[in-house]
Amino acid sequence: MIGRLNHVAIAVHDMDAALKVYCGALGGKASDKVAQPDHGVTTVFIELPNTKIELLEPLGENSPITAFLERNSAGGIHHICYEVDDIIAARDKLVAEGARILGDGEPKIGAHGKPVLFLHPKDFLGTLTELEEA
Ligand code: CO
Repeated sequence: MIGRLNHVAIAVHDMDAALKVYCGALGGKASDKVAQPDHGVTTVFIELPNTKIELLEPLGENSPITAFLERNSAGGIHHICYEVDDIIAARDKLVAEGARILGDGEPKIGAHGKPVLFLHPKDFLGTLTELEEA
């Protein structure tokens, strides 16, 4: 079921400061900033030859990454995202194995316009894990 690594997401306090690191020091190429009000974040993707880095900045009052940034004052790795062929089949298999899906358990449209789900970090070795239908 688990497929390619789609991206690694890093939560940041300040997107412009983060872009200086990724595009300046590291020489990466950034996508445009996209506000994702449904997800409470602004995202930028850095395209790498074999995967992407997703930079996440809080958006709005109740951003789901605010608590994470309070615990991680320098920012940090927030989640990893794997591609799956069929997100409903993947979800149903994982639920049958006892894994918990965050939210209402239904896929939402993610930053790439494709259905995504988040899996509870306690069921996946302490790592918030996103599945995206490829
Ligand atoms: Co993501």
